[in-house]
This record gives sequence, structure tokens and C-alpha cells, in this order.
Amino acid sequence: MASGERLGRTDGSGPGFFLVLEGPEGAGKTTQARAVADYLRAAGRRVVLTREPGGTRLGDRLRDLLLAPVGGEGCAILPETEALLYAAARAEHVRRVVRPALAVGAVVVCDRFVDSSLAYQGGGQGLDLETLRGVQAFATGGLTPDLRVLLDLPVERGLARRLAEPDSVNRIDAAGVAFHRRVLAAYHALVAADPDGWAVVGADRPPEDVAADVRAAVASRLPVGGVAEDVASGGDRAR
Ligand code: TMP
Repeated sequence: MASGERLGRTDGSGPGFFLVLEGPEGAGKTTQARAVADYLRAAGRRVVLTREPGGTRLGDRLRDLLLAPVGGEGCAILPETEALLYAAARAEHVRRVVRPALAVGAVVVCDRFVDSSLAYQGGGQGLDLETLRGVQAFATGGLTPDLRVLLDLPVERGLARRLAEPDSVNRIDAAGVAFHRRVLAAYHALVAADPDGWAVVGADRPPEDVAADVRAAVASRLPVGGVAEDVASGGDRAR
């Protein structure tokens, strides 16, 4: 949109922008989500930075259940149950956090969303993708991101990064290399099926370089520069 004017989401969920960061373990999503949120705020955007599973009180409790390592605090969870628990956290998150923020024109920066379930529970665990998509549609009411950024890096590199910080190792980090290869392959298949919906950014680089590419991808879809100029000149279009 060369004019710098955004006309609002076409699904009726409001004038905001829904940006999702996706990727395998150790891709640096959390760091990049913070960086892009800071960038958008500095440009005068109202930003809600959030994550899945989580973002609500119930979602955070479900996160604890889902990610606690088995043998520690965690209990074994069947793949079907896991998919439903992620979807349950998502249903809360979409209705209590994401849609209200989009409705008032905020940019929602979300660390993981539906595609994590398709990649991990579908690709990784082997659950039927069409069934999973139906569950997602129920959980989200059909909400889709305006842009997903895949932070892409080889599985071994990501796992090595995570294992270098043992405190942050969860049950999914411990699932094995073959599982994580299936997850990454599923992400690549999701991108191939909808190239316009995604930007792929190589994440095996210094965080500043990755952040620059994430900013460029976002700025190509959202008139960030235009908003920054507006702020400098009085900000009547800033939200
Ligand atoms: P992370 O946010 O630190 O990456 O941890 C979240 C973990 O949860 C990560 O290993 C991926 C996993 N996950 C799923 O398996 N399915 C999902 O739908 C979501 C949101 C996360």
C-alpha cells in the first residue's frame, strides 16, 4: 500500500495488523518478537506483544502443563490431548487478547500461533492435518495472521542453542532430532503452500542482522515508515 494507509483486515477483525513469528526450537523468536515490537512502538504504533501457548491466565497455566518435562513436574500427554490443549489456550488468547487488540487498531506481535500446531502436532506428531485445521478454525473463529515470519535455521543449530541453556529446555526440546526435522519440513511445506502469507528469514546469523530482515519484511506489508513520518509531524495517522 504505497499511500501508507491501511484499510483494515478483510475478515472483520478490525484495523490492526496481526504479525506472527514462527520457527523451530532455538530460532530466537522471543528476541526477535521483542525487537520488532520495539521498532513498531518507536514508529508510533500501538503494539501488543504476546505469545502462545500463553497470553492469558489460563493460557499460562496450560503452558506450564504442556511444557513441563515428563519425569519432572510434567505428565505424559497424548498427541490428540496436546493438540486440544494448545487449541484451548489459543481460543482464550484469540478472544481475550488478539481480537480486542486488532479491533482497536493495534499491531499484535505474537510468538507462535496456528502454524505451530500444524508443524509440531501435525508434522512432528503425525496428526492428520485437515483434522487439525478444523480444530484451529474452531479455536480461532477463523482468525489468520496478516504476515507470518518463519525464522529458519538448521535443526541441529537450533537444538544446540537451546541445549546450551539447560534452564530453558522443555519436553519438546527433548523430543529428538527426527521429530524436529519433521517440524521444520512441515514449516517449509506451509510456506510453499502459501508463499504470500509468509516471509522466510535466515536465523543462523547475528540477532541484529535477523532483526533487520524481520523489520524489512514487516515494513513491506505495513506502512511503518509512513507512520514514523506522521509521528514526527504530529502523528495524526498514528494508532
Ligand atoms: P517456545 O515458545 O519457547 O518456543 O515454546 C513453546 C513450545 O510449544 C515449542 O516447543 C513449540 C510448542 N508448541 C506446539 O507444539 N504447538 C503449538 O501450537 C504451540 C503454540 C507451541
